[in-house]
Amino acid sequence: MTEISTPSAPLRVVVLASGTGSLLQSMLDNLDGTVEIVAVGADRPCRALTRAEDAGLTTFLEEYAPAGTPGHDRAAWNHRLAERIAGHRPDLVVSAGFMRILGEEVVDRFRGRIINTHPALLPAFPGAHAVADALNYGVAVTGSTVHVVDTGVDTGPILAQRAVDVRHDDTVDTLHERIKTVERQLIVDVLHAISRTGYSIDGRKAWINHD
Ligand code: GRF
Repeated sequence: MTEISTPSAPLRVVVLASGTGSLLQSMLDNLDGTVEIVAVGADRPCRALTRAEDAGLTTFLEEYAPAGTPGHDRAAWNHRLAERIAGHRPDLVVSAGFMRILGEEVVDRFRGRIINTHPALLPAFPGAHAVADALNYGVAVTGSTVHVVDTGVDTGPILAQRAVDVRHDDTVDTLHERIKTVERQLIVDVLHAISRTGYSIDGRKAWINHD
């Protein structure tokens, strides 16, 4: 069993994002003083980075060159990303809409200390198209999961989940927006809980420690 304690106060968090950054914005607006976002990193220029800059936060951009484009080197990118993250001495790394799979070097270096928010009730619908996949499958309930990151695609031990009902007339956009409303609150609640008590991982199981 691994206990992830949270020695420093406030909890030092590096956020990774790739998109519009509404999850980041929720953290910026709602986190109390027990959690400090010490840097925001991205793999591409994105609204999340400009939100972070507007909030006066330190940012870093580690652009990923996709396969078949000049400079493509997944291992080297992972190494640079690990170095960038480590430079901010985080207690925790939060992947909040970061659309790249973190490689072994990053996961190993911050083992058990990276969490991800995913817009489905894992283990159903992992991957980048979770909302569309749930809608197309015809489930009546989906939701949001916060889990510890391992080297798989959304396979790590689950820390928290909240459900969202699917409506018969939902589109990917309407459903995703309702899920994101839940996600924005869930990630804040999880971070506050972690800053208070830390969390534990035992095989496939993870839980936020009791007070
Ligand atoms: C969230 O639903 C997240 O789970 C998914 O991408 C979305 C990010 O939204 N991977 P935003 O960029 O924070 O608005």
